[in-house]
Amino acid sequence: LEPTKPGRYEIHQREVTAEILPGVPTRLWTYGGTFPGPTIESRRGHPITVAHRNELPVPTVVHLHGGRTPASSDGYPTDLVFPEGWDDMAGMHEMEGMGGTSMSDPRAVTSELTREYTFPHDQRPTMLWYHDHRMDFTAPAIWRGLAGMHFIRDAEEDALGLPSGPRELPLMIADRAFAADGSLAYPALDPTLKERPGVTEKYVAGVLGDVILVNGAPWPIHEVDAARYRLRLLNASNARHYDLEAVRDDGHRLDLVQIGADQGLLQAPVKHRNLPLAPAERYDVIIDFADVPIGSRVRVRNRLGSGQTKEVLAFHVVRTATDTSRIPEVLSHDLPEWHRSDAVRVRDFSFRAGQMGDGHGWLIGGKPFAPSRTDVSTRLGDVEIWRLVADVHHPVHLHLVGFRILSRGGHDPLPHDAGLKDTVSLRPGESAEIITRFDGYRGRYLFHCHNAEHEDMGMMANLEVT
Ligand code: C2O
Ligand code: CU
Ligand code: CU
Repeated sequence: LEPTKPGRYEIHQREVTAEILPGVPTRLWTYGGTFPGPTIESRRGHPITVAHRNELPVPTVVHLHGGRTPASSDGYPTDLVFPEGWDDMAGMHEMEGMGGTSMSDPRAVTSELTREYTFPHDQRPTMLWYHDHRMDFTAPAIWRGLAGMHFIRDAEEDALGLPSGPRELPLMIADRAFAADGSLAYPALDPTLKERPGVTEKYVAGVLGDVILVNGAPWPIHEVDAARYRLRLLNASNARHYDLEAVRDDGHRLDLVQIGADQGLLQAPVKHRNLPLAPAERYDVIIDFADVPIGSRVRVRNRLGSGQTKEVLAFHVVRTATDTSRIPEVLSHDLPEWHRSDAVRVRDFSFRAGQMGDGHGWLIGGKPFAPSRTDVSTRLGDVEIWRLVADVHHPVHLHLVGFRILSRGGHDPLPHDAGLKDTVSLRPGESAEIITRFDGYRGRYLFHCHNAEHEDMGMMANLEVT
């Protein structure tokens, strides 16, 4: 995306028709007319402003996931940007959300069609992503296309000699289901389905699609040189988990060398045979095609999928090439280390299913999200340990801060838990400890499950930094 003037970008959120499946027109909600939305390239220490204008038929909220952002630009779920002529009450009745919370909160503050979000970029270089965060409607809004990628870079990272230019590939992976008319109909909000018993039951675990999109294209095949590539992986699916492996035509598996996590480079590379990817997680990975026979393919597959959802994308190795890239043994020197003894507080949170009203809900500490309740209050600069426990799979995300994973299931963290994270994937029945320092900004932020349906069904809480 090109700035309109230095440090300023403009994005029009609008509906477009695009061809995602061959010959099938699909109505999308987009940032700037494309899905994914335009990729924002930025530099550490260089703040930018992004002006979002809402030309969609519904209110929206933009959140920069992984951004260390002042609360006023963090996209609180009721900081809505309204479309032209939006009648609040009529609109609410027309579109009933997943029902985790009620929209009658008095904090719906903006009534402008445009909102400016300011991002200071005072944080480690990494891949962030931006997506809708409207209360009760985040899942259907992302599903219909409201997601894009956002990079922060700096000179130190540029100097490492990692694969770059055409050999660096941002890959937004998202599953979707297409209705008979080609639309990305959101099944959990389909009024014809809503009447039928069992539908809530069906989607309570989250909405899955049967088509795997990478950067908006179904199962793409990308031509590559026989060289190293840097894959910037993002799982932008609402609820689908992946366990990725890269397999050659002859069945040989390629190593995935992880160099970074959600919040930037690791201290040192970690080699994986396969790599789990929960909703909202990012992994920075090097794959080397040097030994792949020219003319053959490497398929990236999801070990957790079945049938066509087992396939994600493929690389077609088409030519030999010189490769001057390298993977340094030390990648970064500024990874925050916090010790148990630094923590001034330990908190416990359960992430579990519960009853809410006459339906199902997803609860943190036994409670559904309430915009007006402060669930956690902490002081700027405090280090805390959070002990999280889950009933089923819950990818838990904290706004504002990056954290380290201290333990998982009472044991050491797993190899892919290395580095600075903003989302930790709790597996069924699992507990984990994370440690972080609440620095950056004062104000009201969120933490929540990033299964987008769980989030809309109440699995979200307020975090106040004072
Ligand atoms: Cu990716 Cu609160 O969000
Ligand atoms: Cu976030
Ligand atoms: Cu969840």
